[in-house]
Amino acid sequence: MRLTDNEKQMLDGTHGEGVQKAMELLVALGKSFDAEKLIPVSRAHVALSGQEGDTYWCQLLVDGGAHCKVIPSTNPAWDVEGLSKVYDVTKEEKELGERTIDVYRRIGARLSFCCTPELAGNVPSFGEHVAFSESSATPYVNAVLGARSNRESSCSALASAVTGVTPLYGYHIDENRAGTMLVEVEHQPDEAYDWGILGYYIGKFVGNHVPVISFRDLHRRPSPEELLYLGAEMATSGCVGMYHVLGITPEAVSREVAFQGKTPQEILLVTKKDIARQEEELSEKGGKINLVMLGCPHYSYEQLRELSLLIKNRRVHRDVAFWVLTSFDAIELARRSGDLEVIENAGCRLVPDTCIDEPCWKSFEGGLGVTDSPKCMYYRDRRGQPFVLRRLSECIDAAEKGEV
Ligand code: F3S
Repeated sequence: MRLTDNEKQMLDGTHGEGVQKAMELLVALGKSFDAEKLIPVSRAHVALSGQEGDTYWCQLLVDGGAHCKVIPSTNPAWDVEGLSKVYDVTKEEKELGERTIDVYRRIGARLSFCCTPELAGNVPSFGEHVAFSESSATPYVNAVLGARSNRESSCSALASAVTGVTPLYGYHIDENRAGTMLVEVEHQPDEAYDWGILGYYIGKFVGNHVPVISFRDLHRRPSPEELLYLGAEMATSGCVGMYHVLGITPEAVSREVAFQGKTPQEILLVTKKDIARQEEELSEKGGKINLVMLGCPHYSYEQLRELSLLIKNRRVHRDVAFWVLTSFDAIELARRSGDLEVIENAGCRLVPDTCIDEPCWKSFEGGLGVTDSPKCMYYRDRRGQPFVLRRLSECIDAAEKGEV
């Protein structure tokens, strides 16, 4: 790899051991992908998980004197202060949560603790080179915003934030952004939930392709949240970091442009029946529930508004906890706009800074949950809580009845 003098100095330790460690990681990454050089990034998002490995890496860089050159936004850890009062967490789990928050503060990250920075707070523009981790965020910044990022890990995204550079390979290069697989979809999904199921279905077939999704009947523009769900679920069942929606996403104004003049290597046809079957396969059967969990990825303010309209004058069953994961600023907007009162009066709670995959939720394991997100289902199931998958309105019905 060709390095500039400044990059060579970062690598030889002139700028301190923390910067050196970060540079070593990026150079190794670049070499393994045959990158010819490093390029500057103007933004980063670090998918810290509040798990020991990520926190260890950040600590290592901080101990070596590193500080972020590019201020990265951060994924959720968890609301250590609030949730540790409500649920059983061990001393070690609480201590790790506190340590994670502290070390990311010390490295100079922006403690947004939200997994949808691309909707608000850290929004790249078209053509901008960035280093984003978080499997739901990366496809969105590439496909919907037309910015350029590889599927970074929390470690490589933090290394880029510290050094201000990333290796030039993958989706930073024009030709790698070309569609290689045509996905023809019979119908337009109705709401974010349906876009999520469609994404989950497509993700299973994509492999290393860049899918170009073409709707036979596209009667309105999808909302940002709908596109977010599409990408998030393609990245859950598959490893999609880049996609196009014909006539919608900026690098797919026509089929010719989306495929960069080439012929698709594969074609997938998606029918309504395929989606109905996928939905049935994903979901657990019904029964009594102990938890409704929404906000994976974090609910936007617009989704909180939708929730408040649907839940108004209703009441969550006494045996059910209803949690919605979102950002602290969406909660503040909901409070100012009157939605928070409506939501809380119904017995539903909003929580900032928190992921569904954190130790505080283990109190519900052994019971049945309901969610509108296949991604939530996938992660929680691995921890020992099966989930029924339902659209938002049905999640609220289930919360009221205590069963589904
Ligand atoms: Fe966000 Fe955690 Fe889901 S980071 S997308 S709430 S798995």
